[in-house]
Amino acid sequence: MLGEIEAAELNTETALESFRIRFLGTRGILKSFFGSLKDIPAGNRKGYGQQINGLKIAAEEKYAAAKAALNQHETKLEGEDPTLPGTAPPVGSRHPLSIIRSQIIRIFDRLGFTVAEGPEIEDDWHNFTALNMPPDHPARDMQDTFYISRNPDWVLRTHTSSVQVRVMERGKLPIRIICPGRVYRNETVSARANSFFHQVEGLFIDREVSFADLKQTLYHFVHAMFGLEIGIRFRPSYFPFTEPSAEMDITCLICKGKGCPVCKHTGWVEILGCGMVHPRLLENCGIDSKTYSGYAFGMGIERIAMLKYQISDLRLFTENDIRFLRQFSGVS
Ligand code: PHE
Repeated sequence: MLGEIEAAELNTETALESFRIRFLGTRGILKSFFGSLKDIPAGNRKGYGQQINGLKIAAEEKYAAAKAALNQHETKLEGEDPTLPGTAPPVGSRHPLSIIRSQIIRIFDRLGFTVAEGPEIEDDWHNFTALNMPPDHPARDMQDTFYISRNPDWVLRTHTSSVQVRVMERGKLPIRIICPGRVYRNETVSARANSFFHQVEGLFIDREVSFADLKQTLYHFVHAMFGLEIGIRFRPSYFPFTEPSAEMDITCLICKGKGCPVCKHTGWVEILGCGMVHPRLLENCGIDSKTYSGYAFGMGIERIAMLKYQISDLRLFTENDIRFLRQFSGVS
């Protein structure tokens, strides 16, 4: 019996368990030996008892040792096997608006535009008056403004054209800048509007800048951003700070031009406003409008991102739903 206990091969869970049932279980061999003790003649009982006790200890030791060895083997497999794939740490992703912002900056960087930034709390001069919108100008109503109650001269900037004014005032010519940044408008939050959004505006001022230069630059931008197949159209428009002014539409990429709520069922989406800088602006900022001319444009980053990624609700950008954000991991 002792030989059998010692020779048992207990290198699997099943072998270990059947060993336990056979020798140490409630209906096992050793239990029955102990049970028959009472039938042994009194003179032999002690010796017999010692013998089965010895067997019991041997079986218990064997069992404990084999169990420990098996457990150790298991932890080794889990913790140390270098051929198992590792656990990847969770990786964050860039926000789609940051991705599009960098893409826009990269496209204009290649054309020689540098990035200019300015304050989000602006004074009336830089946000409106210098841009040819004196206090009673009706065009101020085009942008629902948040005023700052502490100082009636301060507003949350409604566009980054204010940065263009600041750069023009510095008077270093020529100017070739883009101004990315957050802007604020008092709009009711919906799938198409929010109380703040992000813009990239551009300004180019030099001698003999023409509308053809503007058009060419914007065509290049749209092709670089959306590919050569995209439909583009220019429409005449009005802005107080540009003359002539235009707006640019591209094929709605959410419905591929078929018509959907985002393009108001027209198949076209407006992506930017633009025009030749109004001479009065140049003069307001101390630039000689007889020698210099320029163009300006402004676009919303959200709108570009919606078209690029087929996102039909603006609110997704600010809700921070991890299931939305995760889809942009690995994009730059
Ligand atoms: N500032 C305008 C807006 O926010 C956009 C624009 C910029 C239009 C430059 C023309 C020229 O709507």
